[in-house]
Amino acid sequence: MATFIAGIFLGVATILALDQRRHADGKKKRPPAGGMRSKHSMMNMTNITWLHKEFHYSNKELIKIGEEMQRDFAKGLASVETGHKAEIPMIPSYITRLPTGREKGEYLALDMGGTNFRLLKISLPGDGTTLIRSTKAKLPDSVLNGDSSDLFGFIAEKLLSFVPESVDGGKQYDLGFTFSFPVVQTAIDQGKLLRWTKGFKTKGVVDEEVVSLLQKEIDARNMNISIKAIINDTVGTLMARALTDKNCVVGLIIGTGCNTAFVEEASRVGKFSHMTPEGGFKKSDMVIVNTEMGNFSGPKLRRTRVDKLLDAQSLNPGMQFWEKMVSGLYLGELVRLLVVVFAEEGKLFLRGDLAEIWKEKGSLSTYTMGLLEADEDPELRVVEAILQRDMNTFGSSLNDRTFLKSICKTISKRAARVAAAGVFATLLQVQRKRVTVAVDGSIFKLYPMFHHWMRDAVEMMIQESGLQTQVEIVDAEDGSGVGAAAAVAALVGA
Ligand code: BGC
Repeated sequence: MATFIAGIFLGVATILALDQRRHADGKKKRPPAGGMRSKHSMMNMTNITWLHKEFHYSNKELIKIGEEMQRDFAKGLASVETGHKAEIPMIPSYITRLPTGREKGEYLALDMGGTNFRLLKISLPGDGTTLIRSTKAKLPDSVLNGDSSDLFGFIAEKLLSFVPESVDGGKQYDLGFTFSFPVVQTAIDQGKLLRWTKGFKTKGVVDEEVVSLLQKEIDARNMNISIKAIINDTVGTLMARALTDKNCVVGLIIGTGCNTAFVEEASRVGKFSHMTPEGGFKKSDMVIVNTEMGNFSGPKLRRTRVDKLLDAQSLNPGMQFWEKMVSGLYLGELVRLLVVVFAEEGKLFLRGDLAEIWKEKGSLSTYTMGLLEADEDPELRVVEAILQRDMNTFGSSLNDRTFLKSICKTISKRAARVAAAGVFATLLQVQRKRVTVAVDGSIFKLYPMFHHWMRDAVEMMIQESGLQTQVEIVDAEDGSGVGAAAAVAALVGA
């Protein structure tokens, strides 16, 4: 929130400066005669109606998408394959117990899932609370574009500066590794990367044992650190909330990427059947499943022309369709593509040619999109300032700005509602009376209105479908870090 607010302040400051200049010139413009009834605003109305038709999902449609997702969950759960073809992989995390909150000890956690990664030292005093010391670093392009030893070597170096006391037979630490990509696990501390998502492309990691790659670099630096668990951020978020909330059986991330994890009966997880005890699983035996539902692409998820364009230019075409409609890596880009389409059709930015920057992939970030959407000024002067400052676009009309704001809102609202269908699907799958869904991720936490729209849509789907679940969707604090420590503590702790 702080970043958005800071950004908005910056926008407002720029606008005030612009305004003062206008006053000084004595040229402050009056709104166009006829206001919203001008010819262009009539055109805006038609365009906005078109946008609505193309991108809006009714509650009924959302319920259908949720049902379709749930059928895919069931298929993925029954299957023993997590090959590249499996639509929703449904990967068992090998975590079979939720934390009790009584876990104790001091652990390290490493959280990697975007271009920033974090190192955390977490103390669990045994009453469900946590004490955290953490540091954050950015993965430089040389590392992102390099190979596995560049990546894990860089991380190990940072770890070395974070816990120098662990070197040369020094203090021993157990580490939980939150690695937020699709990893096909074969044990709680083993798994191979199925594929990169979120724009990652570091070579030599896909199909490799991720824990071994990192442990090798740690050992090469003579650190007394042992990786005890590799977990997904959705699993971590679920675990972190479960420290204090026994109804928490779903973890959700809506940030750069998106995904869910939930608690499932162990006997229903095909890929976990080799773990069946001699006497068979009891009804109460559970395992947390990382769905990797970002890859959902059922036919009810209508893909428009811009969705197809976005997919074709992405690093993973044909994959992660749900994620490409919902997550932060893609929303700004969808808006940019729509602006280009509308400008080419002569419906937007009519005064002069469209600035070249609009044609550059990634030139409109989701962060900027949020600022455009948050402008409540009647003349949309924040939008105007951003267009000038960031998008080289001068002389926009109020109609242009109104329409641009509608485009942003259309895309973010669709994202929130389609995300809600994912939540509804998990509720259909877990079938419990009371469920807490723990959510983390920048889009859920920071994007204006997103969490309201998502919560409303989930409530509507529950009501209209008659599902007997009382849901609480809560903002999870630092799930990816604390969850990794909780997972390790549950394994080795007191
Ligand atoms: C990854 C998931 C992750 C999600 C949120 C997706 O791109 O495949 O593993 O949970 O992003 O970080």
